[in-house]
Amino acid sequence: MITIAIINLKGGVGKSVTTVNLAERLTARGLGVLVGDLDKQANTTKFFGLLDYDRNSMSEILKGTAGALDVIRPAPIKAPDGPAVVDVMPANMTLLAANREVLLDMVHPQQNRLRAALAPVAQLYDAVLLDCPPDLDMGSINALCAADWVIIPVDCDEWAADGLDVMLEQIAAVRDGFNPSLGLLGALITKYQRTNYGARVAAEIARRDVPLLNTAIRQTVKVKESIAAHKPLAQYDPKCTAAQDYDALADEVMQKTGLQVRKGGRA
Ligand SMILES: Nc1ncnc2c1ncn2[C@@H]1O[C@H](COP(=O)(O)OP(=O)(O)O)[C@@H](O)[C@H]1O
Ligand SMILES: [Mg+2]
Repeated sequence: MITIAIINLKGGVGKSVTTVNLAERLTARGLGVLVGDLDKQANTTKFFGLLDYDRNSMSEILKGTAGALDVIRPAPIKAPDGPAVVDVMPANMTLLAANREVLLDMVHPQQNRLRAALAPVAQLYDAVLLDCPPDLDMGSINALCAADWVIIPVDCDEWAADGLDVMLEQIAAVRDGFNPSLGLLGALITKYQRTNYGARVAAEIARRDVPLLNTAIRQTVKVKESIAAHKPLAQYDPKCTAAQDYDALADEVMQKTGLQVRKGGRA
């Protein structure tokens, strides 16, 4: 099992859209995928139709009062040859209080709770995608401590590099203190258009020695439409630019992480 944290301190850069569509594309290739939602806004959870205040959620994982199997729920997403399932650890607004509770808990270790929760399900999945909030809260820190890799979606605008330095410092700190094998898979340019910004954003990223993924996700209105329809792009409009880009991203991620479809299927 490999775990990828999808993180940027900026909101609206495509973290959740990337999580959902990369999860779907990896699932379509026959991989077992678990999505963990660490954002109290719960966009990914809502996309999959799993927002719920009566069940255990990511908040209980962070508080240490529930295990992964108490929280994980299946979300069907139709594949061309029948329904496929992405498993989800849903989030909701209780994450706000849960984050505070973890911070105030000086008795139990705070940073490795998600990593510990994922360990018992490691054999069940090939890939875990962690959708982070635009924040360096305990959820984000737990995601970075649990992850093997980080993808940083960066949108193509004038302020694309905002917060990048702080986040890179935090990634370095987590690597030094908790998770020495945490790797930067790279920055992912999202909402790409053929303007000057693409080159400028790429330069900002290169200046910080952050690898840039070869795939960029093009801007298209289909993304917003697909979210409203609660469908992954591959299902909503497989021919649109962003659907093709997320398909290419899945190949690139598999190649760069060594993620392979297991012979004989999932465990
Ligand atoms: N490739 C894209 N083309 C057009 N709009 C996009 C694209 N990616 C994301 N968006 C838009 O940006 C909004 C924010 O994306 P989202 O993934 O929710 O950001 P984050 O999780 O980083 O806050 C989405 O609602 C969507 O409308
Ligand atoms: Mg989001």
